[in-house]
Amino acid sequence: MPAWLNDAVFYEIYPQSFYDSNGDGIGDINGIREKLDYILSLGCNALWINPCYDSPFRDGGYDVRDYYKVAPRYGTNEDLYGLFEDAHRKGMHILLDLVPGHTSEEHPWFAESSKAEPNAYSGRYIWTDFWIKSIPGHPYIGGETPRNGTYMLNFFKCQPALNYGWRSPSESWQCGTDHPDALATREALKDIICFWLDRGADGFRVDMADSLVKGDDEDKSSTCEIWRDIRAMLDRDYPGAALVSEWSNPRLALNNAGFHMDFYLDHWYNGYHSLLRRVEDGIDRSYFRKDADSDIQLFLQDYLPKYRETREHGYISFITCNHDTPRLAPRLSDRELQLAYATLFTLPGIPFLYYGDEIAMRYQEKLPTKEGGYTRTGSRTPMQWDEGPNLGFSTAPADRLYLPVDASPDAPTAASATGRDSLLELIRSVLTLRHHEPDLQADGDFSILHAASGDPLFVYSRGRRILAVNPSGKVRTAAIPGLKAGAVPALLIGSADVSDSQLTLGPQSFIVT
Ligand code: GLC
Ligand code: CA
Repeated sequence: MPAWLNDAVFYEIYPQSFYDSNGDGIGDINGIREKLDYILSLGCNALWINPCYDSPFRDGGYDVRDYYKVAPRYGTNEDLYGLFEDAHRKGMHILLDLVPGHTSEEHPWFAESSKAEPNAYSGRYIWTDFWIKSIPGHPYIGGETPRNGTYMLNFFKCQPALNYGWRSPSESWQCGTDHPDALATREALKDIICFWLDRGADGFRVDMADSLVKGDDEDKSSTCEIWRDIRAMLDRDYPGAALVSEWSNPRLALNNAGFHMDFYLDHWYNGYHSLLRRVEDGIDRSYFRKDADSDIQLFLQDYLPKYRETREHGYISFITCNHDTPRLAPRLSDRELQLAYATLFTLPGIPFLYYGDEIAMRYQEKLPTKEGGYTRTGSRTPMQWDEGPNLGFSTAPADRLYLPVDASPDAPTAASATGRDSLLELIRSVLTLRHHEPDLQADGDFSILHAASGDPLFVYSRGRRILAVNPSGKVRTAAIPGLKAGAVPALLIGSADVSDSQLTLGPQSFIVT
């Protein structure tokens, strides 16, 4: 396990929308370089950058045309190497995005693979052996290429699935995971990984990490085997490199596949969903919603077994949001967000803050889809820096921006969000404390001290620290054996009364004692 992870706090950057350094209306690598001190000042000491490779951008860059080249819209490879250097000089780490399951249909491998004549790339993707043959249970395309076959998709139409083999091949056109074609794809993936690690990347966020092996790999054991092979390569050759999976199944991702971290994503009815996005029939029952009066049970029932089973193997990563998920503002208020982030950033594991969430940037309803974003587009708008033109994002004319900036007169900005009680300052305080106290970092011990059905108050410990949150509008009290009166809280939102063996939290309050 890379030692730097224990105290890592990540900031996710959608590069199109972070900061435009050359006035062409789109964010770029040098823009990220200019803002490293800002990111660091929040308490985030690591970055994940969404795909920044050459791409036709039919899925925001998750349709990679050249894994080895920075997209010209973001700058050059040299710019990215410079970003690695700048970040390392400041003690920061950078994860790139790795898209292993598919390429763009414009990738040169696919052009070769599409040819009628067999060649070295014929087996790089998953093809049937007849132009009209279906691939049951999977999306596929026919009629587009000279090759006499149909090909499997991994996501959008523009994203043909790479061939890592089938768990139990049952057709002559399917190959096993140890077939030379499948192994060649795996080697190609390793080459990409090594290329960027050799040039200064510190690891990868892995897109659709569970999607490699096809067929009846329901238990994912064949896909896990490939990732263990890659982890073995990292342990041997790049022991400081880290991988975080887009999987949201920590038992498989951490224990079996060997990822260092696995995202806890907003999936319908999982524990994370119950905290922040549990809207049912128009009623918001999210735990952190003041008027929901929910307890923490739904979260703990899902999270605790996962945490206990996986803690020896890796980290569960809480997110504030991501580029696929609706932002929490304006549905949740600033105070609700403060309580939520204070909790997420003090639970075990390694948190990820999505750019702009520190200022409660708002989900933008009703934007036309951009580059395959659809409903995700509203979470991908430009970062709001200050009161200047385009809220400081770019000096380009407003109609040339990648996406419009939030047009509301009270749009929050980083410059205006620094008041003492602001969300941004709260994040700074929580993360400063976390960096000072190993008990609050990824590995620190965790136990539940109070979590009762029907009671919104949740009290937990991290090492010697006792933490509590009360998202409701009512005062709540719990007996906490061993609690000592008198100590000044290390952090307080709202109000609290700490007495011997009893903790009382005011409405919408959070404490670290
Ligand atoms: C992942 C990405 C998403 C992308 C998809 C296909 O879910 O997060 O943005 O569209 O994979 O690569
Ligand atoms: Ca630019």
